[in-house]
Amino acid sequence: MSGQQDILNCSFSLWYENFKQDTVKSVVLKMPKAFKDYLLIDRVFVPNDADNEREEPIGNLSHSLDELKTKEIFTNEEFLDFKSRVVTAIQTLGGKVFPKLNWSSPKDASWVAVNGSLCCENFSDICLLLKSSEFITHDLTNPFRIRDQDENSDAADILHLEYTLVLRKWCDINASGEFRCFIRNKVLIAISQRSLHHFSFIDLGKEMTVQSIRSFYKRHIKDRFPNSSYCLDLYLPGGNRKPVLIDFNPFVDVTDSLMFSWDELKGHKSMVEIEQGLAVQGVVFRSVPTEGVLSTDIRNSAYPLDFQQLASGEDPAKLIDLLKLQQRASSLTSSDSDLD
Ligand SMILES: Nc1ncnc2c1ncn2[C@@H]1O[C@H](COP(=O)(O)OP(=O)(O)OP(=O)(O)O)[C@@H](O)[C@H]1O
Ligand SMILES: [Mg+2]
Repeated sequence: MSGQQDILNCSFSLWYENFKQDTVKSVVLKMPKAFKDYLLIDRVFVPNDADNEREEPIGNLSHSLDELKTKEIFTNEEFLDFKSRVVTAIQTLGGKVFPKLNWSSPKDASWVAVNGSLCCENFSDICLLLKSSEFITHDLTNPFRIRDQDENSDAADILHLEYTLVLRKWCDINASGEFRCFIRNKVLIAISQRSLHHFSFIDLGKEMTVQSIRSFYKRHIKDRFPNSSYCLDLYLPGGNRKPVLIDFNPFVDVTDSLMFSWDELKGHKSMVEIEQGLAVQGVVFRSVPTEGVLSTDIRNSAYPLDFQQLASGEDPAKLIDLLKLQQRASSLTSSDSDLD
């Protein structure tokens, strides 16, 4: 249902100019080759923020090829010029920004940030997040991939893509006000709560939510966005304030369908609410029904798998290994202190 042009239309720089008044203030910076090369180097070296210092990679300074390549990039004029444009943009946007590339933010990498969030105040914060994110690597290497298709089918097309770094003014967003809306053939068919936490009041206010999303969609989006099918992310700040456009995403299975299945959204399987006459003003609305948190795809790409399995107790062998390691470490420390 979505071709390459539909995916391109969802890239930030293509829609931002037309929707400036409906979304968060942002700055789009063309990414020079040196910065893209830097992002694609495997190891994570982060540049220095000080203006008058030449950048040095942090971490283990063994003279690996990656380190030499990174050192060269850090002193490249194009890279330094880009860095100063980023610093200026951060100031223009009030000192705190949310970073993303053409389509994706590094939301799978927030755990590496010192503050555990995607809020960035300087160039090195942005570099650390972008370099630690698999979603960013996906944007750079495989943006047109649709599940079950050949990984390299789009290699020729991405050579011509212009990559951008998008910096958005940081806003305090309340997760209970975020919704993903599904539009099929220009018709708003479904709305899902975006966060997978349960909020008891969301279901109580669903009539109002659907009404305000429907009228925003009709008035501001429907005839102005070129795709016929897509996913639209909105933030409803509450009170009388109008919804805020957060993002457009392609109508393909790499986009998280949240409380729906792609079979339902594509019409291959009927939705139970339609059969039971429970649609709200013609739209199927779903929120997380009970206490707790639903599992989501992002869990699989956020923390390293070992951490996840340890935390959930899914793999007891890992826990036993960890305990053994700890025991060994403490016996080594106690024998060290014996020597003191
Ligand atoms: N300007 C902002 N300030 C603070 N938080 C933001 C901002 N923009 C987005 N966010 C938060 O980050 C989340 C992800 O943002 P966004 O949808 O732009 O990323 P994405 O990578 O396109 O996500 P997805 O892969 O789900 O489409 C949002 O749900 C919102 O909670
Ligand atoms: Mg998105």
